[in-house]
Amino acid sequence: MNTPRLIDGKAASARVLEQVRREVGELLAQAVQPALAVILVGGDPASQVYVRNKILRADEVGIRSQEHRLPGDTSTEQLLNLIKGLNDDSSINGILLQLPLPAQIDELRALEAIDPRKDVDGFHSENVGGLSQGRDVLAPCTPSGCLHLLEQTCGDLRGKHAVVVGRSNIVGKPMAALLLKADCSVTVLHSRSHDAQALCRQADIVIAAVGRAGLIDASWLKPGAVVIDVGINRIDTGNGSRLVGDVDFANALPQVSAITPVPGGVGPMTIAFLMKNTVIAARQQHQAQRNQSEAVCHSIY
Ligand code: GUN
Repeated sequence: MNTPRLIDGKAASARVLEQVRREVGELLAQAVQPALAVILVGGDPASQVYVRNKILRADEVGIRSQEHRLPGDTSTEQLLNLIKGLNDDSSINGILLQLPLPAQIDELRALEAIDPRKDVDGFHSENVGGLSQGRDVLAPCTPSGCLHLLEQTCGDLRGKHAVVVGRSNIVGKPMAALLLKADCSVTVLHSRSHDAQALCRQADIVIAAVGRAGLIDASWLKPGAVVIDVGINRIDTGNGSRLVGDVDFANALPQVSAITPVPGGVGPMTIAFLMKNTVIAARQQHQAQRNQSEAVCHSIY
């Protein structure tokens, strides 16, 4: 077998961000600056890092950003009030509510309160439903980034058997929908699956998104499989800690044709696709406004 290929998410995300920067430039030329509002409730350390990086990246590509930090004891009603204000603010194109939320907040109500046209995370049921119907909607950022890496790595995905390990609303389920849309045969495995290892071994493509450090090793993989590792797990090394994926990288490497490292694989893609979704949302809202004003003009004359 050929030497396994490392899938470079940093380089791929830089190319996506470069394209986003060009598209922001085209919108600026029409006096439209895409704008993203990011909401963080409470002080979860990992979420703080993610939010900071999202704001930084937005600034770099010319997207205007707003950060809304709410205290950890915020009520659902208070959060809904903020979301309503952002929905009504026509200068805001994208709203991102960083997850997880503190336990007292009704997460589903909060996500459903976001205007689907501004739902740059693709978590609103209107977008979730549209994706499952194979429509072109705002799709969740991490699975969109994974699909992009797969298209770059494998070329044509049609007919390939993809196994998604994990069934979360953020990654597993939308990943399966995107792979189906790309004409893959899709199997979703989860904690109650019988003989998950043997099923996974049949896959041409494996997406690992369970949040368990090193769960998947070579014994789960068909020789030559392409592996996308979504896991970001912090493990204790005795004299500190380090980040590892859901795949036992060193053990899996000789078995695969290509694999994403952790860090430096899927991670950077999530932010790149958040920026891409913000530009798509801005363009669609601008177009809808233009159509509306043209309709008004026609009704006057
Ligand atoms: N927390 C972990 N991943 C995500 C994501 O993609 N979007 C949001 N909003 N929160 C997250």
